[in-house]
Amino acid sequence: MIADALRKLELDAVPMATPTGRLVGASGLLLEAVGCPLHTGQRARIETVDGQWLDAQVVGFRDKVSYLMPFKKAIGLQTGARVLPQQDKVTLKIGQGWLGRMVNGLGEPIDGLGKLTGEHELDMQPPRVNPLRKKPVHEPLDVGVRAINSMLTLGKGQRVGLMAGSGVGKSVLLGIITRQTVADVVVVGLIGERSREVREFVDMSLGPEGLKKAVLVIAPADESPMMRVMATELCHTIAAHYRDQGKNVLLLVDSLTRYAMALREVALALGEPPATKGYPPSVFSNLPQLVESAGNGEHENGSMSAIYTVLAEGDDQQDPIVDTARAILDGHIVLTRSLAERGHYPAIDVGQSISRCMNGIISKEHMLAARSLKAAMAKHDRVRDLIPLGAYVPGADPVTDRAVQLNPHIENFLCQGTKEDAPYTGCVEGLERLMK
Ligand SMILES: Nc1ncnc2c1ncn2[C@@H]1O[C@H](COP(=O)(O)OP(=O)(O)OP(=O)(O)O)[C@@H](O)[C@H]1O
Ligand SMILES: [Mg+2]
Repeated sequence: MIADALRKLELDAVPMATPTGRLVGASGLLLEAVGCPLHTGQRARIETVDGQWLDAQVVGFRDKVSYLMPFKKAIGLQTGARVLPQQDKVTLKIGQGWLGRMVNGLGEPIDGLGKLTGEHELDMQPPRVNPLRKKPVHEPLDVGVRAINSMLTLGKGQRVGLMAGSGVGKSVLLGIITRQTVADVVVVGLIGERSREVREFVDMSLGPEGLKKAVLVIAPADESPMMRVMATELCHTIAAHYRDQGKNVLLLVDSLTRYAMALREVALALGEPPATKGYPPSVFSNLPQLVESAGNGEHENGSMSAIYTVLAEGDDQQDPIVDTARAILDGHIVLTRSLAERGHYPAIDVGQSISRCMNGIISKEHMLAARSLKAAMAKHDRVRDLIPLGAYVPGADPVTDRAVQLNPHIENFLCQGTKEDAPYTGCVEGLERLMK
């Protein structure tokens, strides 16, 4: 018996031969390997000329050639280099220890604070929620921004987009929301944006207290497209994990457009034909899959609200990604350059924005007040250009006269400093008082 056990131990110690493949091509982002069976989604390592290993993921194949995409910049690869398939399914271990930490798209810590551990397994793909069992949105979410709390009330579990051209104030507004929203856990995905903004976000928007309950997934613009895609999916998976643990989670992604652009790079490299504005069709099917994994889950406790920034390239509100995001999210908050140029911050265009969950979660008085403010703004917009010319004569239409009178107060109400706090109840009372 002992001899049998010893023989088994010895057999276990004998290293198993692992089939390796060979690199036969590298063009642009795409690497081609032959000689070993690889399946899509599988990870593999490729040997570089200086004996290092480059991690990559299988993204497709044709006949006997597998296509891989590296996670880091592909430097030092040569034809015939060894390709080592990774057999294990990739899972991460997550738990309370992840709070206050920063990771990359692979879930590896990048803050120099040591290894990440946890008691729960985390799949790399965001989980799907049965639509019939999804908990509805029925409670307001206080984001601490007057224009949103009063005019575009968001609910716990809602998913919204902040849409604007570049430099109009999406990231600053996201920072204000991060600072002021009450949530148990905040998961932040900084995807494809400037690396300078990462430190700024941590120091200014989160601060030391905010960081303690936050997990940051970071893939700035200089990361490979695979890393940017994986980082976006990872922040959804992490947020869904805490939601299913019964926590109220706030997920912030800056920006959804950079995720779409990373998907575009991957799909174009794989040979998919470009459709609208260079985006291949698969991008438009991947976006809803991602966004649908956000929002509330099946458990009674726990919620997940998500806010995405969406870049309207060239201030084009008909940009295909803006259009898709508008269609798949539960609301859009449009920021306009004309308001920002006037110094009206946050530059939220209340008339163009919508929160699809608002009517179900607010009181009747609140709804009536919000509607009458919108109507007053629309009336004022019709005569806005006439006023400085002296061509507007009061007395013709009492509704327009009241709108013109009210306008400075409305603008004053909707503007807010970056350090100013605006709790939900105060915002609603302020709105109702203003419109009485
Ligand atoms: N609420 C605000 N109060 C004062 N200034 C603001 C505010 N929001 C934005 N700004 C000004 O606008 C600049 C650009 O803002 P921000 O970086 O948020 O733009 P963005 O929409 O995220 O741009 P990009 O798409 O290029 O990332 C800021 O550096 C700041 O000067
Ligand atoms: Mg920005």
